[in-house]
Amino acid sequence: MRLVLWNGSPKAKGSASAVFLDYLAGQAGPEHTLCRVGGLKAPAAADFRGADALVLAFPLYVDGIPGHLLGMLEALEADLRVLAPEAKVYAVINCGFFEAGQCAHAMELLRHWCRRAGLCWGRGVCIGGGGMANAAPLGRGGPLSPIARALDALAASVLSGGLGEDLLVQPALPRRLYVAAAHLGWNKTGRKNGLSKADLCAPLEKGAPR
Ligand SMILES: Cc1cc2nc3c(=O)[nH]c(=O)nc-3n(C[C@H](O)[C@H](O)[C@H](O)COP(=O)(O)O)c2cc1C
Repeated sequence: MRLVLWNGSPKAKGSASAVFLDYLAGQAGPEHTLCRVGGLKAPAAADFRGADALVLAFPLYVDGIPGHLLGMLEALEADLRVLAPEAKVYAVINCGFFEAGQCAHAMELLRHWCRRAGLCWGRGVCIGGGGMANAAPLGRGGPLSPIARALDALAASVLSGGLGEDLLVQPALPRRLYVAAAHLGWNKTGRKNGLSKADLCAPLEKGAPR
């Protein structure tokens, strides 16, 4: 099979999307051809020629698909219809909120895009608590084990060319711990940038740049 793995995060390194795509790529044996694309520059249409599967991993932005990625997907519609008419589309959407259900609208948007592009929807995984992706190993036994299990199921569908139900998963830890860790992270980043906790919580002045 020819698989195109598309990292739709704008981050050059350290993205959660890259962690999830690397995990999926690790499940494909040498009999499969993998083509990795991503970044802020649109991939070449030729990268998709003869693809059996398009696996998109991206972050949730404002309850939707990041603008740069959506623009690229729309621009590719006509080419994909010709170059990869048999490709099935699979997705891994991760978000900063703990609840995976936050990603459901973006998944729906992607299904609409599939219809417009004439491609077949395979299945998707919505991941909450994406901020944990680099904080713990993605495997059995740890807090990310529910995510690993969902990605295993997705990989099985991709590699068999199958369809399946969409899955919603989040780390196996209490929500309040995730939120507390997120607050610590925000405060630390604020301090590094010369902002106190009070600065971070201050209401925006009318007319101030956002
Ligand atoms: C501009 C922007 C908008 C975002 N919007 C949301 C959102 O609506 N809901 C949410 O849960 N997380 C939101 N996030 C958080 C990202 O989805 C989250 O940090 C994700 O783990 C990043 O994935 P990546 O490392 O693969 O880029 C947003 C982040 C940015 C930078």
